[in-house]
Parts: sequence; structure tokens; C-alpha cells
Amino acid sequence: MDSHSFSWMDVQMDPRNASDGELADLMKSARQAAEHAYAPYSGFRVGAALRLASGEVVIGANVENVSYGLTICAERSALVRAVSQFGPAIRIAAVAVVNLNNAASPPCGACRQVLAEFILPDAPVTFPTSEGTRTMPFSGLLPLAFDMKLK
Ligand code: THU
Repeated sequence: MDSHSFSWMDVQMDPRNASDGELADLMKSARQAAEHAYAPYSGFRVGAALRLASGEVVIGANVENVSYGLTICAERSALVRAVSQFGPAIRIAAVAVVNLNNAASPPCGACRQVLAEFILPDAPVTFPTSEGTRTMPFSGLLPLAFDMKLK
């Protein structure tokens, strides 16, 4: 299957079969980020890696807070870093999420909405599920993202 033939449905892909192995590399970067997670409250250590359309890879880890609600997820942590480092014209071409807890961790709803702002609709997103690693196009993860078109 080539990377442009995604349907609206999610697909099962082995990231090791991605054309240039980029998703496997991205997962490796995400794992390195997860090692930097600050998660003293949940103990759940998450890492995310974004490959930008420009080829740059930006990583992020979850950073928790004693207030709990101010915690930032790994995905948003990486996104904020990417914009800060490369500016608001970035486009996200691929995402990998991993955790060090051997648990499922698809990106949460808040992160999906935030990613929607900068991600290419067909960008593959790789994350752990209870059945193993799953990869699907972003458009399948958030089909009806909030958007605002003022008249
Ligand atoms: N977390 C992420 O980093 N990404 C997600 O998509 C969901 C949850 C983090 C937040 C918190 O530090 C911990 O996982 C437990 O919810």
C-alpha cells in the first residue's frame, strides 16, 4: 500500500514496512523523548515525535503538574516546541507516540484538536494499542475537528 491510498477508514500498517522506515525512526525518537517525561503523579511516561514536512524531527514528552489539570501531553509538548523552533508555517507530515508503560496510548482528544491546526490530513500517526502498534492517517483520528469560519 502506498502512503497516498488511505481511505477514510483506519488501516493497520506495520511501521517497519513504511517506505523509508521513517515511522520506525520516529518511534525511536519518541521513545527517547519518553525517557524525559516528567510524570511523578501518573507514572505514565509518554513521548511523541513529529516529522515536519521540512524533514525536521521534533520531540516532546508529557510534563505533569501537581495541579493535575495543567499537565501537558507529549504530543502538545512536541507541537509547541516545533512551532517555537521553526515558526507557525510548519506542517506535520508524520507523528509517532510511544509510552514506557507498555500500555495503549492513542493521542487524546485535546491533542488531536491541537494537532489538527498544523498536520497534513493524510499524515500517518503511529501509536500503541492493546493489540500492538497501529498506524492510521490523521484524518481518521479526528474526522470532525472543530473549525471556525466567521462570516
Ligand atoms: N498523556 C500524554 O502525554 N498524551 C496523551 O495523548 C494522553 C495522556 C499523558 C498526560 C499525563 O501526564 C499522563 O499521560 C496520564 O494521563
